Amino acid sequence: MKNIVILISGGGSNMAAIVQAAQREDWAGRFGARVAAVIGSKAGAPGLELARAQGVPTEVVEHKAFAQEADPRAAFDAALAIAIDRHAPALVLLAGFMRILTPGFVQRYEGRLVNIHPSLLPAFAGLQTHQRALDAGCQFAGATVHRVTPELDHGPILGQVVVPVLPGDTAQSLGQRVLTQEHRLFPRVVAALLAQAA
Ligand code: GAR
Repeated sequence: MKNIVILISGGGSNMAAIVQAAQREDWAGRFGARVAAVIGSKAGAPGLELARAQGVPTEVVEHKAFAQEADPRAAFDAALAIAIDRHAPALVLLAGFMRILTPGFVQRYEGRLVNIHPSLLPAFAGLQTHQRALDAGCQFAGATVHRVTPELDHGPILGQVVVPVLPGDTAQSLGQRVLTQEHRLFPRVVAALLAQAA
């Protein structure tokens, strides 16, 4: 059985969708993998409690703990790598993980590191994706699952979902509709990746 490690910073709803998919019998056959650990970058991330409620072990690598280091980003990534490598994961999933990773970290997990982003990349890399889509007058928004490369939100695209922008949409209403679709997209892409690697 292969291991998956999921990195989170917040609510963890995408993480929960992956855990559920891996635990469901019909998906389990397709996944052939289990979520071995959920690692949070903040002790208070609500997703950690959600993971524990689903029976998944959690760990915290608190990014703030490295603020005094000469190179805080590199020190955080090194600690994160130690926590991840204990599980020898086939895939490391970024599910609402809001830290920028160093090129060294990205290289270490090349071919195994996958992110979900709430826009139709290459449009709207970075933050505030839904507001920026509304401001631009986009008629369609969506989400993208992609391989992680050193450039933020720019790796090869593995899957996308398109969500129409509706009259009167706010960033919040659009974001909620996109998030619901993220929960379908991410497990589907992960299942396909695991099947390829089998
Ligand atoms: C999701 O919409 C995800 O695409 C986004 O954060 C949200 C996390 O929600 N990720 C990014 O913006 C990464 N650049 P969740 O914690 O409930 O899964």
